[in-house]
Amino acid sequence: MNNVLVSLKELLNQCKKNKTAIPAFNVYNLETILSVNQAANNLNRPVIFSFGESYLDDLPLELIALNIRFLAERSQQPMVLHLDHAKNMSTITRAIDCGFTSVMYDGSHLRIEENIKNTRAVVEIAREAKVSVEGELGYMNPEDGSQNDEPSSAETSEFTRPELALKYVTETEVDALAIAIGNAHGLYRGEPHLEYSVLAEIAALTDIPLVLHGSSGIPAEQIKKAINLGICKINVNTELALGAVESIRRSIKISPEVNSLRYEKLIRQTKADLVLLIEEYLKLTSN
Ligand code: 13P
Repeated sequence: MNNVLVSLKELLNQCKKNKTAIPAFNVYNLETILSVNQAANNLNRPVIFSFGESYLDDLPLELIALNIRFLAERSQQPMVLHLDHAKNMSTITRAIDCGFTSVMYDGSHLRIEENIKNTRAVVEIAREAKVSVEGELGYMNPEDGSQNDEPSSAETSEFTRPELALKYVTETEVDALAIAIGNAHGLYRGEPHLEYSVLAEIAALTDIPLVLHGSSGIPAEQIKKAINLGICKINVNTELALGAVESIRRSIKISPEVNSLRYEKLIRQTKADLVLLIEEYLKLTSN
């Protein structure tokens, strides 16, 4: 059976029923795309390719869409092409036009009423194109793992507030909700601590597939517990971004002499190492 790209809603609603989750891996070049594709096909697992608005200066999202659609059409696994952390409507419409099957509108830095208004506008546009929408509520640091200098409002600080999550989900009708329960983008300073009671309360109130950003560095047992309580999508970037560089460092250490290491050989090794890292997350989320 050949596949085309499926919507996030289709995959995550199934996860919600089965208390499972699917990882979303950030991709930003052909090597990361091919590695995610290879790992998913090796293990026969559905997967989410995630392209962030912040990579737009590096390459056009149309190019990403073409590559991923080509692979998805030849894969046996359901695959989603997702736009990660978009703050601009123009990026969202561009992604929908070129075949993304899911978009995330990130209005988590805004006051709730404005976040709801903007998210609702995205849902209306996306729904016509049968594209899913992920929204976010609660404070998180920026996607690159840096710290936010801007003071956050009472509504966006700390953890996602369950009663606001209910209001947000009801009024926007998003298909998935990213929450803040102690998770953070990038490296954790100490042992991550997820606030399971907040997660359980949101899951009980909203009945919507929940998303855990900043999953790199969270111990496997904590991720499993979060999945059991309603997390249906785990976002992974830092582990791969740092893992690829670590692989390159190893290759250079093995062949330190000038002209002893060719680029094509280097990226072959990097891809192989990335596949192993990606497979770990796919195994972690399979029942
Ligand atoms: P990490 O970089 O911490 O893995 O988080 C990724 C993420 O949440 C992308 O949206």
